[in-house]
Amino acid sequence: MSAAPTHATVIPAPSEALFPPAAERERIDDHLTRELARAQERVAAGSATPTLPMDAFRRELAGFDFTVPRPLPQLLDWCIPVLEHGVVHLTHPRYFGLFNPAPSFPAQCADRIVGSFNPQVASSATSPAAVALEAHVIRMVGQRAGLPAQSGGHFTSGGSEANYTALLCALTQAHPQFATEGARAFPGPPTFYTSKECHRSWVKIAHQAGIGRSAARLVATDGSGRMSTTALAAAITADRARGCVPVLIVASAGTTNAGMIDPLVECAELAQQHGLWYHVDAAWGGAMIASEKLRGVLAGLERADSATIDAHKWFATTMGCGMFLVRDARTPSTVFQVEASYMPSREMSVDPYMNSAQWSRRFLGLRLFLSLASAGWAGHAAHIERAVAQAARIRESLEGRGWSVVNDSPLAVLAVVPPPARGEPRTIVERVLKSGRAWVSLARFEERDVIRICVTHGETSEEDLSILLEALTRV
Ligand SMILES: Cc1ncc(COP(=O)(O)O)c(C=O)c1O
Repeated sequence: MSAAPTHATVIPAPSEALFPPAAERERIDDHLTRELARAQERVAAGSATPTLPMDAFRRELAGFDFTVPRPLPQLLDWCIPVLEHGVVHLTHPRYFGLFNPAPSFPAQCADRIVGSFNPQVASSATSPAAVALEAHVIRMVGQRAGLPAQSGGHFTSGGSEANYTALLCALTQAHPQFATEGARAFPGPPTFYTSKECHRSWVKIAHQAGIGRSAARLVATDGSGRMSTTALAAAITADRARGCVPVLIVASAGTTNAGMIDPLVECAELAQQHGLWYHVDAAWGGAMIASEKLRGVLAGLERADSATIDAHKWFATTMGCGMFLVRDARTPSTVFQVEASYMPSREMSVDPYMNSAQWSRRFLGLRLFLSLASAGWAGHAAHIERAVAQAARIRESLEGRGWSVVNDSPLAVLAVVPPPARGEPRTIVERVLKSGRAWVSLARFEERDVIRICVTHGETSEEDLSILLEALTRV
């Protein structure tokens, strides 16, 4: 017989602050739902830009030394105004900003569900339904993009991770020893090619992948923001001659500054001719696949070995939710395969931890699943076509007032320049932001400063467009 314990230890009950009883959770949740809805109404009627006095806020923050706990409802009532006044509002109908969306409601619902169940989507054994659902959405999106039935991929934290995955696939495909030896496996420095208008994640990615930032060759454009295929071919040939090892061509389908689409078919031809991996970075523009009317602008995407499409851009999910699509679903596991005895499953091309850069993973795909399932491709097409029509309306009005639109994008982004007498783009952007009436940005396009106006919000109205125009053109 074993001896009885000498000290009876009383294990304390769970912390009620961390794990309140069910009825209390429901009460707080209801309160939060109501307060968030009210805050969003105020956001739409208020300033698009932050108004929170940051010095006072930093002092207030310093008071949180986390020694004395405060009641959660009180903290929530503190947080909402902080967000209401302390950030640029992507949910403001006059946010004509970077590609960040006002999130769709189904995607917000998905976040609540996922936050509640918190499934671990690293392994198909722990989250079989979540892994299957994500794989289904990725297959449907890939096929809609024109990729073959055996295509695959996965959800990523965003476009940068998807692009990083593409470079790793290209390097692994280019040399069988890259996985073990890294860049040392190549007989010369590996290089890849994208345009000087590309998203700058590519430069960081070259660094992350260990091939160095100089491996990212930023090819000249044609003067209209599209990659020059003549310059591209010349760069590949010159690099080969000096002993470099070209591995990848990246075409942008919707450049970040100006929404320009590189010549996708010609880039595919060059990649094929030179035996290089072909990636299309369609982080924003890729959502055009939803529209039967407009998707023709993406012709050539179907020839990609891989593509980036961000759900958290024009598919309007909450952030961060990107997608890496790949022609052959088996490829990512050649990069990310790994042995780990503690993992409950190890299925190549299935288990996310063996097929993607992440390990522990949030269930991201539910956001796009609920959006697509509730709105259909048609609902997303309407969202995109509306934005394109609104951009055309802004263009028409500005040109009518003597402004120039210097990009010729089929997407919903304008790079505009005021008439000389109206002042510099920089001054006008500063004035608009200070007014809080709208959010636009300053960008460089083909060596000149431009005002960048991107329609991203699904509920921007005619009146919002008029207010934007008034804010831009006011003397
Ligand atoms: C063309 C393009 N690629 C990649 C990215 C990076 O995406 P993320 O910010 O989701 O990492 C962006 C972001 O705007 C982009 O416009």
